[in-house]
Amino acid sequence: MKAIIAISENGIIGKGDFLPWPKIKEDMKFFKDFTMGRTLIMGSKTYFGIVQFNQLPGRKLLVASKRHEILNKNNKNQDHFFFDPRFSTLDLDDDTVIAGGKSIYEFYGPLIKTVYITHVKGEFDGDVAAPDFSRYGKLIPAENILETDKCRIVKYKIG
Ligand SMILES: NC(=O)c1ccc[n+]([C@@H]2O[C@H](COP(=O)([O-])OP(=O)(O)OC[C@H]3O[C@@H](n4cnc5c(N)ncnc54)[C@H](OP(=O)(O)O)[C@@H]3O)[C@@H](O)[C@H]2O)c1
Repeated sequence: MKAIIAISENGIIGKGDFLPWPKIKEDMKFFKDFTMGRTLIMGSKTYFGIVQFNQLPGRKLLVASKRHEILNKNNKNQDHFFFDPRFSTLDLDDDTVIAGGKSIYEFYGPLIKTVYITHVKGEFDGDVAAPDFSRYGKLIPAENILETDKCRIVKYKIG
């Protein structure tokens, strides 16, 4: 599996339900280009934070939840599915993208073989710290994807 994440210099990924930093155009473009056409897995907190603004068209979303009222919800968007990963028999392949938040990166951590990290320049206030991917193996830089004054995007293999 692959993961995609943005982390500030002080190791923060979230503030409340949202990202801690103002929109970074290049990072948003990279997220869109990379995830287009793929299946994404995210936690319900991240999902409800994002979909108010963007339904992420062109991608299939698998949204993790333990709540019956969510799992049984009749969703309007036919590309969005709620599931409970603890009891799931979904066929997840190497191309499935783990899109956060922290609890979902950690749940799937041992299966993640490639991670795309946007290193956000600067320190930001927030209440959700980055997961420690090095718990699952050595982070080996594989490709520098782009760098701007606001961020640096690097592909890592976890070996
Ligand atoms: N910087 C980044 O790249 C990035 C990316 C994504 C998210 N974020 C940020 O991360 C924060 C959210 O992270 P989070 O860890 O608090 O929440 P989250 O992972 O987005 O969602 C947590 C919810 O997912 C469900 N869930 C998690 N693990 C589960 C499991 N094993 N089985 C069944 N359901 C499970 C539960 O939903 P129910 O409560 O419905 O049962 C849980 O409350 C936000 O601030 C968001 O903006 C940052």
